Amino acid sequence: IQKPQKPPLPVRQKPMEIAGYVGFANLPNQVYRKAVKRGFEFTLMVVGGSGLGKSTLINSMFLSDIYNAEQYPGPSLRKKKTVAVEATKVMLKENGVNLTLTVVDTPGFGDAVDNSNCWVPILEFVDSKYEEYLTAESRVYRKTISDNRVHCCLYFIAPSGHGLLPLDIACMQSLSDKVNLVPVIAKADTMTPDEVHLFKKQILNEIAQHKIKIYDFPATIEDVAEESKTTQNLRSRVPFAVVGANTIIEQDGKKIRGRRYPWGLVEVENLTHCDFIALRNMVIRTHLQDLKDVTNNVHYENYRCRKLSELGLVDGKARLSNKNPLTQMEEEKREHEQKMKKMEAEMEQVFDMKVKEKMQKLKDSELELARRHEERKKALELQIRELDEKRREFEREKKEWEDVNHVTLEELKRRSLGANSS
Ligand code: GTP
Repeated sequence: IQKPQKPPLPVRQKPMEIAGYVGFANLPNQVYRKAVKRGFEFTLMVVGGSGLGKSTLINSMFLSDIYNAEQYPGPSLRKKKTVAVEATKVMLKENGVNLTLTVVDTPGFGDAVDNSNCWVPILEFVDSKYEEYLTAESRVYRKTISDNRVHCCLYFIAPSGHGLLPLDIACMQSLSDKVNLVPVIAKADTMTPDEVHLFKKQILNEIAQHKIKIYDFPATIEDVAEESKTTQNLRSRVPFAVVGANTIIEQDGKKIRGRRYPWGLVEVENLTHCDFIALRNMVIRTHLQDLKDVTNNVHYENYRCRKLSELGLVDGKARLSNKNPLTQMEEEKREHEQKMKKMEAEMEQVFDMKVKEKMQKLKDSELELARRHEERKKALELQIRELDEKRREFEREKKEWEDVNHVTLEELKRRSLGANSS
């Protein structure tokens, strides 16, 4: 008998406007204050060939020298080539908001003669950060989990004008499954605007052709509210053609971050010169939280699912499960019953096999006995025939003898008996 179902509670489609002031309108301020107090964590990874200006761009982005000159003097001054993935953590403060920025550099990437799988240490680094987070989440005490997961990966493409290298394609393909991938054209000042335009088109085509999933900057609430075309324009600049510079140049009393050439000045923060500002605004000003959300909701979830399903499959049996315990017990009982039935069937099969074997053996010995009996019978019949033959021979010889001696053996016997008695 089915229970009568309760009708669902009516849900108001429109929110009710409260006449007075209750105070929950202050909620965003509470969230804001809490977030500001806690500070923000962001991890940016730069991947690309050596000397493409990764460190310079990072410094330009955060307007500070993240890398200590001694610790990170640049490729020309570097005493020992770095081959491992390196993470540098810095605390930045702007208008009272703290940002713990971790920059992950991958020096020497694609530098070796054999570059096959040279991106594996990068993937391992990304996975190791997910693993750290998963372990921290699974702990009993998990009040403050520091988030060191890689939220954004700037992939530096060499300004060759010839599109992506096979190495770029393979690396971007494997990275795009794990992180928010943002392609950038390095050292864009080495190309003319037309060349940059064509190069961007070519790269986007290749990205689509090779099904590389790059981070799609979604429209933010502000964009929709402002209905500004600026953000849309900024978005249309992907892949960002960037120029980095750590030098501040004075021009007409103004301090400009740029690169001076004999033929002119390239201003890093000028949208007509390069896309640096577009990239910085999109990554830091408008989409930092979205990058973190996508990392948490998509890439980390994928990692978690993969990891848990790996753990959950031991001998093909689910070990970890988030099922209702009763359902789990019911399933285990059913599984046990099935196992028992299987065992019973197997035992029956074995018993049948043994019986069949025994019957076969009996049949065989029966046949053997019959065969032996037949043999014996034949041997006896042969013996009888031989004896018959001998008897006939004897009869014939006796007859011949009697004929020759004109006396029968019986007569002779009687005579000898008569002689004996007289
Ligand atoms: P590795 O650490 O070896 O991987 O190099 P990197 O990619 O970090 O390059 P780095 O920032 O050390 O810059 C290498 C050289 O390129 C330096 O001499 C920079 O001054 C120069 N450079 C950096 N950015 C640009 C740029 O946008 N345009 C030009 N023309 N040169 C640049």
